[in-house]
Amino acid sequence: MADHTRIIAQSAALEERTHGLLFDLPELGEHVSGFVVRFDNQVYAYVNQCAHVPIELDWNEGDFFDLGKDYLLCATHGAHYQPQTGHCVMGPCKGKRLQKLNVSEENGNILLDVDSINNRFNVGF
Ligand code: FES
Repeated sequence: MADHTRIIAQSAALEERTHGLLFDLPELGEHVSGFVVRFDNQVYAYVNQCAHVPIELDWNEGDFFDLGKDYLLCATHGAHYQPQTGHCVMGPCKGKRLQKLNVSEENGNILLDVDSINNRFNVGF
C-alpha cells in the first residue's frame, strides 16, 4: 500500500500552546503553507489562510495563539479560531472555519496525511 503521509516536523520541536511550525503545501501553490500547533497535547494542522481573506494568519512567523493561549488568531483583523476544529468563534469570519489537515504523531515525527490536502474542506466534520 502506498504511504500517503509525509513528515512535516519533529514532535519534540512542537511545544504546547507556543509557536506553531510552518510547512510547505506545494499541492496548493508555490507560496501556500500549512501550520501545525500543539493544544492539550494533540497536534492540529491547517492551511495557513484566514477564512476571512485568504492571507496568512501569522504576522510574526509561527505566532498563532492569542494572549490567553486558548485560540488561534489571525493577525490582520483579529479572527479567533478554535484550535481543535478551526471554527471561527469571533471576528469577521464568524461561522466559517480554517481548512483542516489531518496530522498524527509517530516515532517522534509529525506526519501529514497527504490525502487530507484535497479533502481539507471536509476533514473532521
Ligand atoms: S484577514 Fe483574517 S480576520 Fe481578516
